[in-house]
Amino acid sequence: MQEPLFLRALRREPVERPPVWLMRQAGRYMSEYRHTRANISFLELCRTPELCAEVMATAVERLGVDAAIIFADLLPLLIPMGFELDYVLGDGPKIYNPFREPSDLARTRELEDLSEMSCVFETVRLTRAAVAPLPVIGFAGAPFTLAGYLVEGGGSRLFLHAKRLMYTHPEAWQELLGRLARTVARYLRGQIEAGAQAVQVFDSWVGVLSPEDFRRYVLPSLQELRANLPSDVPMIYFGAGNPALFPAFAELNADCYGVDWRAPLAYADSVLGPHRALQGNLDPAVLLGSRETIRRETLRILDAFGSRPGFVFNLGHGVHKETPVENAQYLVELVKTWRADDAKLRAEKQ
Ligand code: CP3
Repeated sequence: MQEPLFLRALRREPVERPPVWLMRQAGRYMSEYRHTRANISFLELCRTPELCAEVMATAVERLGVDAAIIFADLLPLLIPMGFELDYVLGDGPKIYNPFREPSDLARTRELEDLSEMSCVFETVRLTRAAVAPLPVIGFAGAPFTLAGYLVEGGGSRLFLHAKRLMYTHPEAWQELLGRLARTVARYLRGQIEAGAQAVQVFDSWVGVLSPEDFRRYVLPSLQELRANLPSDVPMIYFGAGNPALFPAFAELNADCYGVDWRAPLAYADSVLGPHRALQGNLDPAVLLGSRETIRRETLRILDAFGSRPGFVFNLGHGVHKETPVENAQYLVELVKTWRADDAKLRAEKQ
């Protein structure tokens, strides 16, 4: 039997069309999800593998996408590391005992044994079974993005507490990121052992850094994470928000790079190299627009990159909760019916 389309594309093998999946493809924009969430808190949902698998399998089926990411979140991993986390309605995640001083290292546990996250491994197993033969993506937060939440105590625009720690106590900062990197590596290996066929590392906030600071304060921990993952399972690195970081991202040697919509794919291609797969990069806000706009913007990406060996169609960030499901379905249909020959015809007409 042939390997799933998504995995072949990640390995830059020949494919009949680019695979498609959407970041945050399961979530509040879908009525089935809102229905499930009406009876259970988000954290409780994340701890209930049967429901997690059902939520993602339902989304995958409604959209017709080519891969399922597990239903989980970046931040629950921080709980067994010693932090009190909750999701506050309308306010996002909150950490009630944030990391602020080097002395907080004493209460920050590097996890050797990921038994406290075993429900996520069960989610991987159940999701594999529920969506077969589609492949399952495991995921985790990158050390910087996790540290950002830990130090700020929640979301932030400028990450000033995190930067203050980084610039004032660089050794404690490196130690914190090292503990996060090793914990995340063990967590992702657990997901792979449970059946995840690819993993995505979300560095959602890394864009607040300059290239120099990224190299000095963040890249070593990402390289340690990378070195501790099996080389035969594709790793996707999604570093959002700042295309000026691409030359430094290239030094990470990820198998695939997620590209947000602010960066032209052609730029990502030229800097990250043809030997890496690329994933992206439609602005998720386009899904709030007219069908005409969705079609134009989707074909623009596909006509330019649909035939590139190693291309995965995705959004440039997660689906917004205001998105009409029909628009997401329409997008997936456009990708699945796209043909390289049509692209040539369109090019000739212009
Ligand atoms: O569909 C999927 O992609 C699967 C599951 C998934 C969730 N979060 C579910 C979720 C994934 C892959 C994530 C990743 C995640 N979580 C990221 C990286 C992606 C990104 O957007 O940059 C980040 C930064 C988080 C942290 C997080 N989780 C925040 C900031 C919030 C609150 C903001 C929001 O959108 O609600 C969450 C909550 C969250 N994670 C929800 C879901 C479905 C909404 C919770 C609810 O039901 O109220």
